[in-house]
Amino acid sequence: MSMKIPFIKSKQAVNADFDVTENIPDHVAIIMDGNGRWAEKRGLPRIAGHKEGVKAVMNVVRAANHAHVKVLTLYAFSTENWNRPKPEIDFLMKLPKEFLHIYLPELMENNVKIDTIGDFAALPAHTQKAVKYAKDKTKDNDGLLLNFALNYGSRYEIMQAIKQIMDDVDCNKVSVDAIDEDIFSEYLYTNGLSDPDLLIRTSGEKRLSNFLLWQLAYSEFWFTDVLWPDMDEKVFNEALKDYQNRKRRYGGI
Ligand code: FPP
Repeated sequence: MSMKIPFIKSKQAVNADFDVTENIPDHVAIIMDGNGRWAEKRGLPRIAGHKEGVKAVMNVVRAANHAHVKVLTLYAFSTENWNRPKPEIDFLMKLPKEFLHIYLPELMENNVKIDTIGDFAALPAHTQKAVKYAKDKTKDNDGLLLNFALNYGSRYEIMQAIKQIMDDVDCNKVSVDAIDEDIFSEYLYTNGLSDPDLLIRTSGEKRLSNFLLWQLAYSEFWFTDVLWPDMDEKVFNEALKDYQNRKRRYGGI
């Protein structure tokens, strides 16, 4: 039987010098970038950067948990990443299992729930199996939602949503007049999740790379030159502190 660690709302996050009860984003989305450059700088193969990137994932999960973020969506593999060399793809597809093998007990102890967005059925069977096991095991946890974007592409997601709505219109499940932004959102992978409040991208690149195009419409963006494998709680907290001072206007004044 798993033991749930109570969700203690202390004012000070671990290793944080800011008030974690004040204006913390509910949903943080991250484009984890720079693994290849991290490895190249050290004369290592690119996959060494991905391997190190797994540790950074856990650094950020711990930081998000400490700060009482509710949802953390991590861009782990895009629909465009299939264009990489096969050995690199094969390596990336083994990482979820490796991550879960090492960290699932800690995630369970901390009441973290695992989920995914993306075209799950098109992932290799071994990747699906490892992730499905973790999803099932953590399904009753109600702490941080750790949401991996795996084989995710935003344009594909939007296109699929349109096709499904058209089908539902055809069979009178929904009327064209009733379709609004909320109903459209229900057809996306992110159905049921609030939109990200904060988007972080590492490695100095400043683009969305087909990530959550609909959902990021009003999100705050934060960029850092830090390469993903060097991402830690301190850098994550810098982003949170910056977010705390943003004035979100949603198009108003
Ligand atoms: C982008 O860096 C990173 C990826 C495409 C893979 C991200 C994966 C991880 C961080 C590990 C995932 C871990 C789990 C648990 C699923 P890049 O390779 O494009 O770097 P570069 O721009 O420097 O070449």
